[in-house]
Amino acid sequence: MFAGRSDELVALEKTLFQTKHGNPTHFLIDGERGIGKSSLLLNLTWAAKGEVKPLENPQNFNFITVSVCLGPSHTYSDIVQSIASELSRQISAKAQVKEFARSAWEFIKKWELGGIRYREGAKEVLRDTELVEDLSFAIAESLKNLGSEVDGVLILIDEADKLPVSANLGTFVKLLTERLKLRGCDRVCIGLAGLTAVKERLRKSHESSLRLFKIFALDRLSMKDCATAIQRGLEAAKKKNGFDVSITPDAEESLSFITEGYPHFIQQFAYCAFDADDDNNIDVEDVQKGAYGEAGALKQLGLKYFEKQFFEQIGSDEYRQVLRVMARHFDDWVTKAVIRKEATAIKASTLDNALAALKSRGVMVAKPGTKGTYKLPSRSFAVWIRAYTQTEELIGGSGSETEEQTQ
Ligand SMILES: Nc1ncnc2c1ncn2[C@@H]1O[C@H](COP(=O)(O)OP(=O)(O)OP(=O)(O)O)[C@@H](O)[C@H]1O
Ligand SMILES: [Mg+2]
Repeated sequence: MFAGRSDELVALEKTLFQTKHGNPTHFLIDGERGIGKSSLLLNLTWAAKGEVKPLENPQNFNFITVSVCLGPSHTYSDIVQSIASELSRQISAKAQVKEFARSAWEFIKKWELGGIRYREGAKEVLRDTELVEDLSFAIAESLKNLGSEVDGVLILIDEADKLPVSANLGTFVKLLTERLKLRGCDRVCIGLAGLTAVKERLRKSHESSLRLFKIFALDRLSMKDCATAIQRGLEAAKKKNGFDVSITPDAEESLSFITEGYPHFIQQFAYCAFDADDDNNIDVEDVQKGAYGEAGALKQLGLKYFEKQFFEQIGSDEYRQVLRVMARHFDDWVTKAVIRKEATAIKASTLDNALAALKSRGVMVAKPGTKGTYKLPSRSFAVWIRAYTQTEELIGGSGSETEEQTQ
């Protein structure tokens, strides 16, 4: 059901091509939650492994591709360890690997068998540089050994924003690329993906690490791409279920319109419209039912992505009212004067409390260096609030307790 992103995929394929020819550019894919970072990485992985034809490159690629996903509890040594283990598995899977390339990866066994523990707090802690030294040696030896049998190595770290600053991802990338260069190993490409916060994390970890990356900032899909994603979904359903389901042009337009090009919204709204349909022809009514129904798309998205921001932290409907006003401006900066003017039903003192609370709970962002100017943390949150507010209006609101009452 993947649609669009051809500019990004072609550019990433060029990066693979350059890596194959000894001139790698590392890359960073960043964007809002659900914008399609992991999906793009997955498509790139298929192309890199030669499982699908590249969009423009005339020949299939043959990269050793390593994908790791790390979390908030991981450390620097976990980064090295998981990449090393996965790489060694991928390389061993190549039947042609000769014995001495395998021996390059012997160091992994040391920690896997409990000989040396590459773990903080343990006795035999190795320094950051030593860890990377081992890893770079193993990669360089393996690539030397494999020669032109493979195009190179592609290392992908998804959800890189989740790693704590203390895991020093920036330092890791900097050290690894430098060590590889010193060893004359120039066919390794590193790709990261994560929420926008990842850039700050990298900068904090190593001042110049961000300069190593070409940045792909993912934006929403175009209306045409939304339509393609919907059509692909219907084709996939036909294959699976064995019967045809069509969609009226109005319904398709309405889906693209309501989702504003956010891929995770498109998947959810389209799925719910499909579910609401009972005559194998999705029309505008099905879209509405699927969107605003009791277990509809808006509810689902709210529970999956925004519950913390909109429900859990904001007990008062008045506070939510402030968010609705903010959502009219998407993720633009809005001054307090404008909010006051537009949120006419809210008392001045309540507004002050609301702004302070929303800010401290991270539901709104205050403009640095400017007093009394705020924005919502993401545009997709605004799009969801706008659509959700319509539901509340349709079904008659969600209660009117005040923040004071809930406290
Ligand atoms: N280009 C696309 N075309 C159609 N559907 C897409 C596209 N990109 C992503 N999706 C769908 O949108 C949803 C979210 O995508 P994905 O998980 O890749 O986003 P993400 O940016 O990695 O999210 P997160 O920030 O939560 O990790 C998935 O259901 C995916 O199938
Ligand atoms: Mg993801």
